[in-house]
Amino acid sequence: MKKKTTMTVLDSRMLAQDIWSLELAYAPEDLPEKVCPGQFAGLYPAGGEMLLMRPISICRWDSGRGALRFVYRAAGKGTRSFTELRAGDKMDMLGILGNGYDLDELGGKHVLLLGGGIGVPPMLELAAALNRSEDAGTRVTAVMGYRNNELFLKEEMEEFADVYIATEDGSAGTRGNVLDAVRENELQADVLCACGPLPMLRAIKHYAQEKDIPAFLSLEERMACGVGVCLGCVAKTTRTDEHSKVHNARVCVEGPVFSADDVDLD
Ligand SMILES: Cc1cc2nc3c(=O)[nH]c(=O)nc-3n(C[C@H](O)[C@H](O)[C@H](O)COP(=O)(O)OP(=O)(O)OC[C@H]3O[C@@H](n4cnc5c(N)ncnc54)[C@H](O)[C@@H]3O)c2cc1C
Ligand code: FES
Repeated sequence: MKKKTTMTVLDSRMLAQDIWSLELAYAPEDLPEKVCPGQFAGLYPAGGEMLLMRPISICRWDSGRGALRFVYRAAGKGTRSFTELRAGDKMDMLGILGNGYDLDELGGKHVLLLGGGIGVPPMLELAAALNRSEDAGTRVTAVMGYRNNELFLKEEMEEFADVYIATEDGSAGTRGNVLDAVRENELQADVLCACGPLPMLRAIKHYAQEKDIPAFLSLEERMACGVGVCLGCVAKTTRTDEHSKVHNARVCVEGPVFSADDVDLD
């Protein structure tokens, strides 16, 4: 579903320094029947002065209440403008966009979720969805990496997964990054799912190759259209695209989630 819809803000609040939670209400006819963890939406800054949507991942999807939750870092002008929103305000949204994680592929396995910084929010919906999995043997462990001890979403994640923490300044959990915490706690898994900054994803790709386990990575690229038209978001792939015969994939349509083997991050 790639239509633009006007949503109503249910809740907007700060979780940590520059990290905000935004919950939007939707009508059932405005959303697909299923929202896949790892998918995202294009959120439009108000006022029309900034034309482009800002891609933000789904952090929670509550079909019972008709609510979509996003957690974002107020990084620049667009996302900073979202912090002005209050309950009852309107916001335009494009989507739901992208592919998301393949739950059929993950069911029945021990899944290790690795979220770094603002890569943590999509891991929460993935943990919740895996928790609902009817495949016997599905197990979820999450490692969440932060700058400091402002551990946003940690308690919510603990409802769905065994949680380990890494902090850059060593103020909580393992000092270092998510892979330092994986090594320190000798964590094992059948499959890795990760979202975070590019150097983290590159290291996880190499780690998965070394351990010979599959990994699925959610990539972030700057986006304009969000629907596959402008080619502004292409990532380098290891295989050629059937249609164009080039080593490219559009993160907004073919991604943002890719098998680590399929993307060239070096
Ligand atoms: C599929 C996808 C999912 C995302 N999910 C989230 C999320 O759940 N929470 C969240 O906080 N952010 C997320 N992002 C990043 C978010 O889209 C950018 O931070 C946002 O667009 C920046 O807009 P701005 O106007 O505030 O900042 P700008 O002034 O445009 O830029 C501020 C800083 O952010 C960087 N930036 C801009 N666009 C992107 C981008 N697309 N990806 C990475 N860095 C960018 C710029 O290089 C600059 O350093 C996601 C991006 C993608 C592609
Ligand atoms: S943002 Fe336009 S093709 Fe992806």
